[in-house]
Amino acid sequence: MITASFSEIAIPRAGALILPLFQGAKLTGTAAKLDSRLKGALKRAIAASDFSGKLEEVLEVIAPGGVSLSRILIIGAGDTAKATISHFERIGAVATARLNAARDRQAAIIVEDFDSKISSSEAAAHIALGVQLRSYRFDNYLTTLKPKDKPVLHRISILCVKPQEARKHWHILSAAADGMTLARDLVNEPPNVLFPAEFANRAKKLIAQGVKVEVLGVREMRALKMNALLGVGQGSVKEPKLVVMQWRGGGKNDAPHAFVGKGVTFDTGGISLKPPANMGEMKGDMAGAAAVTGLMRALAARKAPINVVGIAVLAENMPDGNAQRPGDIVTSMSGQTIEVLNTDAEGRLILADALWYAIDRFKPRLIVNLATLTGAILVALGSEYAGLFSNNDQLSEKLTAAGEATGEKLWRLPMNDAYDRMIKSNVADMQNIGGRDAGSITAAQFLQRFVKKVPWAHLDIAGVAWKSGGKVGEGWGTGFGVRLLDEFLRKNYEAGA
Ligand code: BES
Ligand code: MN
Ligand code: ZN
Repeated sequence: MITASFSEIAIPRAGALILPLFQGAKLTGTAAKLDSRLKGALKRAIAASDFSGKLEEVLEVIAPGGVSLSRILIIGAGDTAKATISHFERIGAVATARLNAARDRQAAIIVEDFDSKISSSEAAAHIALGVQLRSYRFDNYLTTLKPKDKPVLHRISILCVKPQEARKHWHILSAAADGMTLARDLVNEPPNVLFPAEFANRAKKLIAQGVKVEVLGVREMRALKMNALLGVGQGSVKEPKLVVMQWRGGGKNDAPHAFVGKGVTFDTGGISLKPPANMGEMKGDMAGAAAVTGLMRALAARKAPINVVGIAVLAENMPDGNAQRPGDIVTSMSGQTIEVLNTDAEGRLILADALWYAIDRFKPRLIVNLATLTGAILVALGSEYAGLFSNNDQLSEKLTAAGEATGEKLWRLPMNDAYDRMIKSNVADMQNIGGRDAGSITAAQFLQRFVKKVPWAHLDIAGVAWKSGGKVGEGWGTGFGVRLLDEFLRKNYEAGA
């Protein structure tokens, strides 16, 4: 991981130097000063190449004479008028990828003032975020990696006009980045290592940061009559766990905001066994719980002035002699009965009890759950947007806006009584599948039966929780949801934020 530090602008003496340059912009300020020291080499390089300043475009000037820099990377920053924070994150990410490939040990980025709604200090902080997220590694299990296969850059200086102001922005963003890193680590861990009890152990590490963490086991679940959750867990030798995390940074009597994450540490489908192709990806079926845990870490890291409860509901969905069968009827904690027609629709079963529990115990002012719930959401939205389902328009709008602001985008899908009827059962209060059509919506209708009238949103993150096809050692989980919810809380519920 590369850590960023902020200081005032000066031309560094050694290492790599990165200069973001907007489309059509001239070299000005420090860049111009540097260019004259280089006898115009940068200007000539720009003219000699077809560099235009398009976002993420890179022009590399190696070992220029007159200075002892290893290289100067001019990175396209795109159109100033259209600049968003995510453009600066992309600049940080591109710079990181290039620096790692070049094996520089020392690097600096110069962020000068520019004309835009975004201040150069904010831009500097978002470049740092791009650097940190792009430099994430998950390579503990790669035993034959040679030192030359590992990045050598560990620090980067961000040189900007008002470093103190940039640091203030970074304080917020780095908290979210740390939460995302935790979420990614949890998603990336293999399912033999990260089963419910081990997930709970990792969540307990947040106690050191001031988060209160309780872990409920099978005994407590039985006492609470969480039979929907217990039914999913009963086919595995790894016992289910329910982790309750509390961050109390707000007023003593303020009702908390509640977040519940699906944490199926491995989903074989149970007796309704999944086909073998890509089943290994189901190690990521706990990404919702990972995001909630990462969010708690982010809130603690920036000492958020708000009360938040995070619940990770953890089980392993396995087929064995004690596994639940298609046809079983379970009585959930709410008292409602469920006919389990497909043991692979397990996420909604564990969430049913976790949502009910969260509302019953904490009386939250709102509740948001995250779950890799349905393959159908991939069919509908692919990996661009997560699905948003809600019983509340204002809550939906706030979440959607936080998604646009952070790039973790949400798209709302409809819910209504006709969809709800699709999960009607002849022998129980409901069944856990609705048929092939509208699969993501019927899953959401199922969850809605367990949230009473509390403002609630369900984020189906099955399409965005991980991405295949990365490079060796760079990990797979995205950490989706942490930034989104951190921003959602900070913008809407933290006084003075
Ligand atoms: N964890 C899966 C959903 C999933 C699929 C997540 C692909 C990520 C990628 C979930 O438990 C599941 O199996 N859902 C079933 C529901 C069906 C049986 C109604 C599905 O989507 O096929
Ligand atoms: Mn499943
Ligand atoms: Zn699942």
